Amino acid sequence: MQHLVETQQFDRESLQKLFALTTKLEGVRNDSLHGKIMASLFYEPSTRTRLSFESAMLRLGGGVLTMENGKESSSQSKGETLEDSIKVVSQYADIIVMRHAEVGSAARAATVSPIPVINAGDGNMGQHPTQALLDLYTIQRELGREDDIHVAVVGNLKYYRSPRSLAYLLSKYKDIRVTFISSPELRMEDDVKDHLKENGVKFIETEDMTEGIKDADVVYQTRIAKEWIKNDAEYEKQRGRYIITRAVADAMKKGAIIIHPLPRVGEIEAEVDGSPHAVYFKQVGYGLLVRMALLETMLNGRKI
Ligand code: CP
Repeated sequence: MQHLVETQQFDRESLQKLFALTTKLEGVRNDSLHGKIMASLFYEPSTRTRLSFESAMLRLGGGVLTMENGKESSSQSKGETLEDSIKVVSQYADIIVMRHAEVGSAARAATVSPIPVINAGDGNMGQHPTQALLDLYTIQRELGREDDIHVAVVGNLKYYRSPRSLAYLLSKYKDIRVTFISSPELRMEDDVKDHLKENGVKFIETEDMTEGIKDADVVYQTRIAKEWIKNDAEYEKQRGRYIITRAVADAMKKGAIIIHPLPRVGEIEAEVDGSPHAVYFKQVGYGLLVRMALLETMLNGRKI
């Protein structure tokens, strides 16, 4: 795997290998990437993705060049094309981790880059493959199995790249059921639903959260993203529609988990944090490990 652009690049075997390495990296600090440099190019805001990749690189002995707020702080603001920026940065680093507002930007970067490019999120309806990988790792590790899982995805399914990426990964497994819970305006797009159909994954769509999550093994809550729903009236209409309260969490079945890519802005109440179902902060820690495994794999030539 030269570049990581979308989750369709993985199969079951490569996921198993990546996750086996992920588990081995728990607590590790070593020098396996000594002398290697990662450039993090973030043209959109981020806390988790940028800092966890940078922490992962430092824990493996590598170095980091970081650019946040790239839309304003980089030479893009002077009119430099993404392609030219990548051709330049690829001479300073050994791997690029990039977040950009345009769908397809990671693929464009990969086309011109002589060094590996990792897509850290491209556009509101693009992909966020490393988030989906850590989501899947969290699901499998917490539930202790890979197959026979019911995932309920709640809230903003239209303008949210992470559940889109996760759907492609879930389709690699057996007996996966997906319940998409959203308002009609924020339904999952047809390209993802067509993929699930083609791969025999059973899914339903509903507006009823109580009914939709009662049998779920995983409740994947999402944020109504203000930055992607440009119409203020529409944003106000959507936010607050699906809130996980402690009472909602308490009604979930035994052993079921709540995950969220974070940040949250009210769609999981703070009182849920103490619930045995709440694993969204543990998920952050798993994310660090998955990103360590990806860097180790892509920079040290491991086959996955
Ligand atoms: N989940 C996620 O991508 O978080 P950040 O936007 O903080 O990176």
